[in-house]
Amino acid sequence: MCGIVGVLGNHEAAPIIVEALKRLEYRGYDSAGIATVNAGRLDRRRAVGKLVNLSDLLVHEPLAGKTGIGHTRWATHGAATVGNAHPHRSGKVAVVHNGIIENFRELRAELAAAGLTPETDTDTETVAMLARLHLDRGLSPREAAVATLDRLAGAFALLFLFDGEEDLMVAARQGSPLAIGHGTGEMFVGSDAIALAPMTDRITYLEEGDHAFVTRQGVEIFDRAGRRANRDMQTVALDATRIEKAGFKHFMAKEIAEQPVVLGDALRHYLPADGIALPEGVEFAGTDRLVLVACGTASYACLVAKYWFESLAGLPCDVDIASEFRYREPPLSPASQAIFVSQSGETADTLAALRFVRDKVAKILAVVNVPTSSIAREADIALPILAGVEVGVASTKAFSCQLAVLALLALKAAADRGRLDPETLARHLDEMRALPGLMNQALARSDEIARLAERLAEAQDILFLGRGAMYPLALEGALKLKEISYIHAEGYASGELKHGPIALIDRQVPVIVLAPHDRLFDKTISNMQEVMARHGQVLLMTDSRGADEAAQGTWATVTLPEVPALLAPIVYAVPAQLLAYHTAVAKGTDVDQPRNLAKSVTVE
Ligand code: G6P
Repeated sequence: MCGIVGVLGNHEAAPIIVEALKRLEYRGYDSAGIATVNAGRLDRRRAVGKLVNLSDLLVHEPLAGKTGIGHTRWATHGAATVGNAHPHRSGKVAVVHNGIIENFRELRAELAAAGLTPETDTDTETVAMLARLHLDRGLSPREAAVATLDRLAGAFALLFLFDGEEDLMVAARQGSPLAIGHGTGEMFVGSDAIALAPMTDRITYLEEGDHAFVTRQGVEIFDRAGRRANRDMQTVALDATRIEKAGFKHFMAKEIAEQPVVLGDALRHYLPADGIALPEGVEFAGTDRLVLVACGTASYACLVAKYWFESLAGLPCDVDIASEFRYREPPLSPASQAIFVSQSGETADTLAALRFVRDKVAKILAVVNVPTSSIAREADIALPILAGVEVGVASTKAFSCQLAVLALLALKAAADRGRLDPETLARHLDEMRALPGLMNQALARSDEIARLAERLAEAQDILFLGRGAMYPLALEGALKLKEISYIHAEGYASGELKHGPIALIDRQVPVIVLAPHDRLFDKTISNMQEVMARHGQVLLMTDSRGADEAAQGTWATVTLPEVPALLAPIVYAVPAQLLAYHTAVAKGTDVDQPRNLAKSVTVE
């Protein structure tokens, strides 16, 4: 989603801003732009498509100035055109924005009455116009920005730059994060610390409702009520901002490959030799129901976890997609707990759902990858998944780490509720400790899967089937594939096949069957036979026992390690990810930044 950068520097700002925007490319965008103030005058350059188009434009039409703001835009209001690209300008004000101004229509009507007409389709332009109106009425730039912010409804991170002001930038946060970076005689602003990493590791995060006046001398921060606020400056660990492909062709390939390592780190953190070490307060004995809420891949992690919480802990569990959850107005028991799962910790729908359950449930847990995120901070207890920075838009290592943390929570719940004797619990924990090794074995199938992907790349439609906890994994496998290869793919519970999707089966439709040799194996294989009887091309993913029994007649069988039932969804995530990755590579799509998608979705 949109990326923001601001520089009050001692060198030319445009090249620094382009570099910083590159570090935000992972968020997904479809146009980009920069504005600077030079010799007291605002000017800007904008281009559609990748940042290289903006860089090319800057070669032909350079933009001088040591003070500037930049933006990568993921279109919401209005197509990805130069006119709609940020920075937006009105008179002496330029603005970049992440989020949505929900009352922009109402504001437009007011602005029209004052004689100002919009030139773009965007909601953001109204912010610049409103600030201009205040300037025209005699307010100072600082006052104009604050008066503008007072009128805005919705979620936003905003940066204002003013004609004639080379040592001022106004930043504001409501719903979307902003990081202020401290240099020496220089100051920076970014959507996250990653953007600012080459410039500084000293970061102050704005809190919800804050606005800040940034000059080269430092930053003054004010809270929602306009009171001067002290926000800590923290030194961000280099590891948290390192974004390198480390020799891999794509970030996604690197992130798939590093799963055994990051998962091992997460397990060491939560599983010391003497048992499960979860934060104090993680306790399920008196809980009557769990509500798990998330979006996208994280919601499939929740669906897998439902199988674990219900079967291991006997804890009834509802899983909801965040965008549906709060509008459904579900009745919630005061003895229930809610778990929000989010890689970024900033997903607008998930955050809104978290705020909806506040005061309605006994406790709110957050399973997040970014410990400084809004969702982590607003939950009662945050459990970091410790996956490290995930850059590929299609989530991979975050998914497996989310699953690992959720599995530990389910085991803790089972123990708290007296459903697991100490020996069985210890056995499950030992199984968990063996996960990195099993994932390595699954990764070893990569070349074989790459060969199969050559053929999958020709398909129009692909189905994924699974039973039990492999059903949500079928959903995730299909999501991964469609996200990055643009091939239409659907996941189904294998038992549901005959109730509709079987009508799609013919020789052209590959069907991926995820079937470890578990207690449901025979049933899944019966469904697979129904596919083969109709000439469907089956790619069976199973273990050696499963392959011995059922490989015959399949188009291909990928043999994975034998895994304890509890862990199968985590290990089988690897071949599902590899399948999507290699298919996308065979099709030549933009694997790390697939079209139309954003990494951190900060709008509803
Ligand atoms: C976007 C991303 C997905 C992700 C989803 C939820 O759609 O492209 O990869 O699963 O958001 O994001 P979160 O950060 O809340 O896990």
